[in-house]
This record gives sequence, C-alpha cells and structure tokens, in this order.
Amino acid sequence: MKILVVGGGGREHAICYGLHKSNRVTKLYCAPGNAGIAEYAECVDIGVMDFEKQVAFAKEKAIDLVVVAPDDPLAAGLVDEFEKAGIKAFGPRKNAAILEGSKAFSKDLMKKYNIPTAAYETFDDPDKALEYIETAKMPIVLKADGLALGKGVLICNDLESAKEGVKEIMLDKKFGTAGTRMVVEEFMTGREVSVLSFVDGKNIRIMTSAQDHKRAGDGDTGLNTGGMGTFSPSPFYTEEVDRICREKIYQPTVDAMRAEGREFKGIIFFGLMITAEGPKVLEYNARFGDPEAQVVIPRMKNDLLEVIEACVDGTLGDVELEFEDNAAVCVVLASEGYPVKYDKGFEIKGLEKFRDKDDYFCFHAGSKFADGKIVTNGGRVLGVTAKGADLKQARAKAYEATEWIDFDNKYMRHDIGKAIDEA
Ligand code: AMP
Ligand code: GLY
Repeated sequence: MKILVVGGGGREHAICYGLHKSNRVTKLYCAPGNAGIAEYAECVDIGVMDFEKQVAFAKEKAIDLVVVAPDDPLAAGLVDEFEKAGIKAFGPRKNAAILEGSKAFSKDLMKKYNIPTAAYETFDDPDKALEYIETAKMPIVLKADGLALGKGVLICNDLESAKEGVKEIMLDKKFGTAGTRMVVEEFMTGREVSVLSFVDGKNIRIMTSAQDHKRAGDGDTGLNTGGMGTFSPSPFYTEEVDRICREKIYQPTVDAMRAEGREFKGIIFFGLMITAEGPKVLEYNARFGDPEAQVVIPRMKNDLLEVIEACVDGTLGDVELEFEDNAAVCVVLASEGYPVKYDKGFEIKGLEKFRDKDDYFCFHAGSKFADGKIVTNGGRVLGVTAKGADLKQARAKAYEATEWIDFDNKYMRHDIGKAIDEA
C-alpha cells in the first residue's frame, strides 16, 4: 500500500516509524515531513493547510491511505477533502474534529451525556465573563474556545490575574480568533494522565497510558509549551481508574458523538485529571499527542497500519491492542527560549549514535537539511526516547542519550518522569 502521512513533527516521525515496520507498506510519503522522517518516508514540500496541493499529490501518486496527524488540518476538514476526492483518509471529519476544535462544544457534550469533567461556563461577551469572575472561586481556569497550539489555557490564582486573563484572551486576542469565545472552568487538582485511543465510529480501543510535561521549566515552572517530554505507562493510571474511565468516559464519548450525528473515526486523546472524586476529562484531542505518540507507538506490538485500516473500515471490534510490558521516556531537546523566541539553523550533531539501537529513538520535531547537514528548525527540535524494563531504567537511558546530541542553544528539562519516583 502507498501511504501519505500529513504533518512534519515528532508525532509524525513516530507514526512513520510505526508504519514503516508494516510489511504491507510499499511506499511511504510525508508532507511536509522533516529531516528525521526522511529516513522512513519520501518528504514532499506541501504545507499541512494547503489542502488543494495535498489532495492533488495524493491523486497523482494514487495513494491508498492518508493519515492526517495534526489538529489544524483535521479541524479545518482535510479528511473530508480527501474523501470527496475518493481517497481513504484516517482521522475525524470536520464535524467530529470539533471535539478538539471547540472547548465549548466538548464541554457541552460532556454535560449533556454526563461525562465527568470540571464545572464551567461559556462566554461570548467579555463583560459577562468579568462579571462572573468577580464572584467565582479562585484559582480559576480560563480557556480560549478554539485551537491555540495547546497554549490557550490560563490558570489564575486571584481575581486580578483572572481579569487580566479575560482581557488577554477576549480583548487583546492573544490566541487569535480562538479567543472570540471563552470557557471559564473550575480548577481541579490531582494527577494528570493522557490516554490515547483508536476509534472506528462505534468501537474504541484504549492504548497504554502516558503523561506529558507541558511547562517549559523544571519543577513545572515557566510557560506552557506543546510538551517538553513524556513517559509511558503512568503508574497513576491504575486498574481501578481504568475501569471507571471505561464505564464513564471512553465508550460514552464515542456514543455521544454518534448520537450527535458526528461519528468519530480516528484517535481520541483523553486528557484526564485523577481527582479525589475520580477521573475527570480535562480536554479531548482528536489526534495522537505530541510527544505522547513518541512513547506510545514504540511500545505498541500491533501492526499500526492494520489498526488504522480497521478504524477507517469500521472493523476495530475485531482488533485487540497489545503493548510491550516495559516503559518508555521521551525527553524533548528544544531551542533555548522556546516557547517564546529562539534561533534556528544550528547543526545537529550526534544523530548517528542512535543507529542500530533497538531501545533508543531520536524523533525529529523541528529539523531540516541545509548544505548537506541536518540543522535545527523549530522550538522543539528532537524527542530523545528510550525504552527500558521499567520507568526508572527508561528514564536513565533517555537522559543518557540526550548527551549524545549536540547543537547550539540545546535546552531540555531535567525532571521528565521524575514524578514516577514518588509513585
Ligand atoms: P488543556 O489544553 O485543556 O489540556 O489545558 C492545559 C493544561 O492546563 C492541562 O494539561 C492542565 O495541566 C491545566 N488545566 C486545564 N484545565 C484545568 C482544570 N480545570 N483544572 C486544573 N488544571 C487544568
Ligand atoms: N502533548 C499534548 C498534546 O499533544 O496536545
């Protein structure tokens, strides 16, 4: 089969790694891809939002299946465009990708179908939001309704910062049009866990758990980022939590989407908070997490292509997912200054050290070829990942491997997976 993966970050590198292992894949393309993905796929210089060119390319190459990985093209309906052109595509259609694309939609869905989540109110008018906040309990969480690269969430400890937050989101439009509408949410405390799943419209299959570290600095300080590192599985995702989530969250979400006439096919990523009252949904994403995919896919025993096809064909009910009985840790090597301001174009050295090592992976998030060399090309540059018998070992190996790589302005957190020592 000829496959096209749409995207060009660490997540897409992990997906291409998974797909290239399938012996049914005869040719793999990635648009736009990056210098790391080029090891597995032919990279094609087409942006993820250039729908016309993406579809034309898929037609020209007689692609059998397209995997749309990032949130923006999913929310804007790229899967629908491929389908209109008669090309099979994996990922939710526009009317289902709204599960991630609008926080107001997902909160209303959870309320309507009794799926546990934080209490909330939605506002289109900044004055009404300010009025509400005056009497609300602090801390409080403000969320821009639309997509904002995982950054449109403000946690405000007092009234002053909450007022400032409403101004930033709704008036200054710090997150662009994503902030035309805003969700104000009760602050929850507990352990966060990410659970990814495959969905075929009706059936859902749960992958192993993972945990992200969203803040830029050690000890969860600094600004929110796209994710500075992950580990899998999460020791906080116990059998009891799993049982409750299966009963109250996973299948009920899939059923709710069907009942709304928005059948969901693709990946649902459940961002969960394990509170004293039980697990609650923090957010839904309609795609693989980045960098969650980098720790989950390497542990997956199934043929990734077969599971993806089962989702598209509606036969996921026949599939059992299997994961290795081990652990993985991914440490993101970023450019100093990320997520605000950083320089690019520095040569990345040491990549060859990952060759022929089964337990080590170097997923490229932002890299490109320049003058025959591989150079940094983004805020997040690499996701250095290692598998080990347990989380402690995987963590030690991942940090060891971060030393193999060198580039100017290399920055990383030093406590990825540290919480696991307390478990
Ligand atoms: P989101 O993009 O909705 O996942 O939010 C980003 C991050 O903000 C989450 O990973 C949590 O750490 C935090 N967060 C979001 N909503 C809440 C909430 N209601 N209570 C506490 N923390 C939250
Ligand atoms: N790592 C969080 C996300 O992909 O949204």
